[in-house]
Amino acid sequence: NIQACIFDLDGVIVDTAKFHYQAWKTLAHGLGFDFTEHDNERLKGVSRMRSLEIILEIGQQTLPEDEKLTLATRKNEAYLEDVHRMTEADVLPGVRRFLEECRAAGLKTALGSASKNARLILDRVNLLPLFDAIVDGTDVANAKPDPEVFLKGAEALGVTPAECVVFEDAVAGLEAARNGGMRCIGVGDVTILAEADFVIPGFTDMTVARLQQLGH
Ligand code: G6P
Ligand code: MG
Repeated sequence: NIQACIFDLDGVIVDTAKFHYQAWKTLAHGLGFDFTEHDNERLKGVSRMRSLEIILEIGQQTLPEDEKLTLATRKNEAYLEDVHRMTEADVLPGVRRFLEECRAAGLKTALGSASKNARLILDRVNLLPLFDAIVDGTDVANAKPDPEVFLKGAEALGVTPAECVVFEDAVAGLEAARNGGMRCIGVGDVTILAEADFVIPGFTDMTVARLQQLGH
């Protein structure tokens, strides 16, 4: 039966994709090319350095490693300006209530994110107290679809993968859950997230009772 929920951060708990997008777009413009919202889809769940490499590919540019590091740092500083303006109001609808419901029902909760800013963001939106464990981009060597981030989350919670349900908005994240032997719920568009056990548009109508149906 289900004992724990593991949540992705960007696109599931908060919508930081729009901040990433703005910061990457500014960087691309500085290098003399455009970066579209369509291109931005490719960056979901992807690490900061890998994101930069994808953007440079789009702009057909190659740069030495030290310049890439400088650009990634600059992008992150611009991104953090937006993050520092976040408040509790930036938590996506229904998320706080669902986390509280999980905990009241005795389910454990963990975060499993590629972001190195995950703790900072959860602190900004005041959600840190609702997580039993946090595994982020500073804790893992292998990116989704490798299951490392979720397996570490299960381990930190003291549950088995079969007892976990992962909430993800990215295909690579759903694959990571599957590769780790976990069930997964897609958050977003059912046509993109078809490989999930089921897909919800958001947390507004999500309940622990619905979650437990997965366990039967
Ligand atoms: C998440 C987002 C990605 C982002 C990555 C790294 O997975 O979906 O778009 O690039 O985190 O975020 P960071 O905060 O470490 O730059
Ligand atoms: Mg995501």
